[in-house]
Amino acid sequence: MLSLLLLACTDPDTAGPRAADTGAAPLAVALLDAPATLHADRLSDSATHAVPTAPGQVLLSGEAVWLSDARDEAAEEIDGAAGPVRAAAWASEVLLLSTPAGLRTWDGALWGSPLSEHVTGSVEQLAVDGDRLWLRTADSLYRWSGGVVEAIQLGGAPTGLATGGLLGDAAVTWVGAGPVAVALSEADAVSAERAFRDLWQLGTDAAGNAWLNDGGSLWVHLSGAEDWAQIPLGAACTDLLASPQTATIWAATTTGAHVGSAAAGLQPAEVGGDGWLAVDSRGRLLHTDGSGVLRTSAGRGVGWLDLPERIEEEQVATLHPSTEDGIASISVTLDGEPVEGRAVAFHPADFEEGVEKILAAEVQWTDGSAAALEVAVLGALGTVTWDDTIAPLYEDRCAQCHGGDADTVLDSAAAWQDLIDDIIDQVARGAMPLGSDPLSQDDVDRIRAWRDAGFPLTEPR
Ligand code: HEC
Repeated sequence: MLSLLLLACTDPDTAGPRAADTGAAPLAVALLDAPATLHADRLSDSATHAVPTAPGQVLLSGEAVWLSDARDEAAEEIDGAAGPVRAAAWASEVLLLSTPAGLRTWDGALWGSPLSEHVTGSVEQLAVDGDRLWLRTADSLYRWSGGVVEAIQLGGAPTGLATGGLLGDAAVTWVGAGPVAVALSEADAVSAERAFRDLWQLGTDAAGNAWLNDGGSLWVHLSGAEDWAQIPLGAACTDLLASPQTATIWAATTTGAHVGSAAAGLQPAEVGGDGWLAVDSRGRLLHTDGSGVLRTSAGRGVGWLDLPERIEEEQVATLHPSTEDGIASISVTLDGEPVEGRAVAFHPADFEEGVEKILAAEVQWTDGSAAALEVAVLGALGTVTWDDTIAPLYEDRCAQCHGGDADTVLDSAAAWQDLIDDIIDQVARGAMPLGSDPLSQDDVDRIRAWRDAGFPLTEPR
């Protein structure tokens, strides 16, 4: 669990859970615990590629190429554009397509595009920004405006392109130049710049926030923030999809996916299928499962911000519904006792060592959807010492095999200290104690806490 919000202070004199006022704006994107509920439908059982082209419209391609409209009907077949379309965008009533045979325009019939003369290499990305059109190939970035195509000089190969960004009130286009993310204002002035290690993907959302995948770490530049901030997903980010048409973003990691938005936070999500293609204007993920294109949308969820697993110090946790729109009711209870509002103040004094309390929340929306979440909150472990904690644990669970003549002797604090990493590894995996029940999570945590405290022998008096 992560602490990502700074919250208003509460009065330390009154114990017990109660409402706290949290007027503070989020400083970063929240990571929510509750998994998102997903709904998948099949958009096509023959296409292998899908590119959103306008709100409500998706261009599907494989052997054939066709546009599907807002009612998901194959509205128009685009004859002659055979093969997967990498990128597409509407510019002045004309659909521009990057096909395996090069750039094409379509206005009911398919034409070779005059832009092809100016662009070398296959176009991987097309983005419209007002009356300008950006084209990105593996080696170059081009911009078309007023009938003129210019190659944009960058300090490295173009690694990303995202129009529709906002920095404060200023509109910017984000460009990846090698490992550097650069924000260009409309006048082409550089308004922000930051070097990353290995910039893979760059995107913007409908709120103007910029998102970036730096060699497996997810970063966000909130439109109102001064700089980029990393979002610790706990696993390497393998894919990132954002679009200026929607606030929803999708991030894949080696262990699972996340979906959400800068305002509502990111929730874990289990997405079926494999290749991720795009996010559409309604925030739905377009992806493939080997036999066609699927479209997955995220339902609603609820999570806690700033909720530690153990109450070691005073802390205010805040309930975070995935959307604030149309909330009908919110109910929060701590060990069955109702808590008013959506912020709960925790004080260590309310938690005896090892005490567990159940924090339950339920949110209902006016459209009938609901999300509930129950989490256990634990009291602090207290002071862990060799004499009071570890020695008795050793006597009880290890001494029979790790006394004086064993290969690994663990009968003193010094012996534990020498082998602490090995010990923690063994007990956390349940490999030790050999042949009996593993240590409780509390006991494993106690050993860690003892290490973290510097291996105290006795409690200081
Ligand atoms: C029933 C017997 C038994 C109990 C109980 C037991 N162990 Fe072990 N443990 C062994 C044996 C056998 C080995 C392998 C020989 C050795 O290194 O002593 C071992 C090895 C180890 C090792 C070295 C592992 C390595 O090879 O890197 C550690 C560390 C360890 N035990 C920790 C513990 C701790 C901590 C406890 C108590 C929480 C514990 N063991 C309880 C039998 C036991």
